Amino acid sequence: MKRSKRNMVWTVSAGMLATLILSGCHRDMWTQPKLKAQGTSDFYLQQDQYRDWEGQSYGMASRPAVKNTVARGHLRQDEAFYTGMSNGKLLTTLPPGVKLTRELLDRGQDQYNTFCRPCHGLSGDGKGMIAQRGQWPKPVTSLQDQRLREIPIGHFYTVISNGLGIMYGYGSRIEPEDRWAVAAYVRVLQLSQNANAKDLNDDDMDRLINPDKYKNGEGGHGAAH
Ligand code: HEC
Repeated sequence: MKRSKRNMVWTVSAGMLATLILSGCHRDMWTQPKLKAQGTSDFYLQQDQYRDWEGQSYGMASRPAVKNTVARGHLRQDEAFYTGMSNGKLLTTLPPGVKLTRELLDRGQDQYNTFCRPCHGLSGDGKGMIAQRGQWPKPVTSLQDQRLREIPIGHFYTVISNGLGIMYGYGSRIEPEDRWAVAAYVRVLQLSQNANAKDLNDDDMDRLINPDKYKNGEGGHGAAH
């Protein structure tokens, strides 16, 4: 028993030593000449044929991309989806690729409350906290204006993308899909302030007529929106 234990200790120690010797000593991959991405390169600096498309010589290890190169998946051929316009006209509906779903509107609400509400307010009336407290050369526009209620939905997409007047754009912060979600949610806000009771379904009509029935429990949920 004692002997076999000692044997085992020897075997394990020898194994560990072998592993160290075999694995630790090969440093040639580490020290071989190589170029690091974005690092400098004398080779490319000296070689005339390695000039970029503007005739400039680069001392960089990475080659500049060929002119007009577009990253995969960024060609943006879907004009309606990416610009909010089709044949020079603002879209009057969501682009074909965007489906009007509960998820889209929930996402729109989330993004609107994050990016737009500080100025345009919870209901879009233009009385957000920043609008009330800031010094504005002109007031924040109410999204409830009759003009904006009648405007094609593509207008919201372009304003979010590029800004308008003194409002800066959100193109760098809000992805195209989310811009459509916000645009759709602006329509929800507009409807919320101009809803016709006749358009309610039976369930919602019941809530309107008998608010007491819904005071506790699930009735409170609707008030959050
Ligand atoms: C920092 C404050 C601020 C934020 C945040 C902001 N806006 Fe605005 N918005 C303005 C101001 C100010 C104007 C008026 C611009 C003008 O007419 O010069 C405006 C105008 C608009 C208009 C009216 C365009 C028209 O046709 O007159 C729309 C639509 C709009 N914003 C949508 C949005 C949406 C959607 C968001 C969120 C993605 C947003 N805004 C975020 C300040 C803001």
